[in-house]
Amino acid sequence: ALISMRQLLDHAAEQGYGVPAFNVNNLEQMRAIMEAADATDSPVIVQASAGARKYAGAPFLRHLILAAVEEFPHIPVVMHQDHGTSPAVCQRSIQLGFSSVMMDGSLREDGKTPASYEYNVDVTRRAVEMAHACGVSVEGELGCLGSLETGEAGEEDGVGADGKLSHDQLLTDPEEAAEFVKATHVDALAIAIGTSHGAYKFTRPPTGDILSIQRIKEIHERIPNTHLVMHGSSSVPQEWLDIINEYGGAIPETYGVPVDEIVEGIRHGVRKVNVDTDLRLASTGATRRFLANNPAEFDPRKFLKETMTAMRELCIARYEAFGTAGNA
Ligand code: G3H
Ligand code: 13P
Ligand code: NA
Ligand code: ZN
Repeated sequence: ALISMRQLLDHAAEQGYGVPAFNVNNLEQMRAIMEAADATDSPVIVQASAGARKYAGAPFLRHLILAAVEEFPHIPVVMHQDHGTSPAVCQRSIQLGFSSVMMDGSLREDGKTPASYEYNVDVTRRAVEMAHACGVSVEGELGCLGSLETGEAGEEDGVGADGKLSHDQLLTDPEEAAEFVKATHVDALAIAIGTSHGAYKFTRPPTGDILSIQRIKEIHERIPNTHLVMHGSSSVPQEWLDIINEYGGAIPETYGVPVDEIVEGIRHGVRKVNVDTDLRLASTGATRRFLANNPAEFDPRKFLKETMTAMRELCIARYEAFGTAGNA
């Protein structure tokens, strides 16, 4: 059944688990996520980005998620809109039947320019008013995602600030977070702790100076009843990088957010963990390997099936590590 984010995250907080929120763009991702949830008895958050809506079209995405609910009626599913850039974008998703929306007011409507605190409060409060009137949950964001090593947001064509970010923008302030939640009534708050979107998060395995789990603890201590959200939380598995590069890829050395660090965050109030890049890496690795090993094959279902298996295994691993398993 379709449920709101608030319902799911309240349960997660009571029971002390986290929920991976996987991005969906196509059938294979959707099936992989649902089969993994079914195998582990996990509740599901699937989220659609602006890029996904552009790729598949909002009606296709919507029906893909509704099809998942129909085929797996025993699994609770949150249909979440990722990184909305204005209240109007959130409103359109609510009209389409999304049960949760993210109003990302950390950036202006262009999705690139860091916004003022006042702007963020204003758009987020408006989105919350509208969404709550419809029984829909809202995730806000305070602080800008980006690397503490370089000050850059990362991904070039995706969601993220242009130009250099200051140390202050890259780490959410606990006091400001408390004020923000009080002023907006968001159901969940995405925070900046040094992660960024995409595969190029860290040039070395992250230590506390570039990935601040400590900051999560400080924020959670200040606002213990707010569900925290980690964006940019792919772990960038070295095994998949190796497979991609072994079969013709060229991805330079790079590191993601270790699963153990996420688990530590979950011990301190993190309830939603956004994962997109890991599914992309698994999918590409599986495709490259299959096509290299089976050069005469031309039925796309053959390699797409391999991508589904790879993504399903990855989802199962996250459901188990985050404690989501057994909570459907
Ligand atoms: O928030 C970023 C997600 O990874 C979505 O990326 O805009 O390329 O679909 P995308
Ligand atoms: P990754 O790029 O680390 O998978 O993060 C995805 C995300 O935060 C989507 O909102
Ligand atoms: Na989101
Ligand atoms: Zn994100």
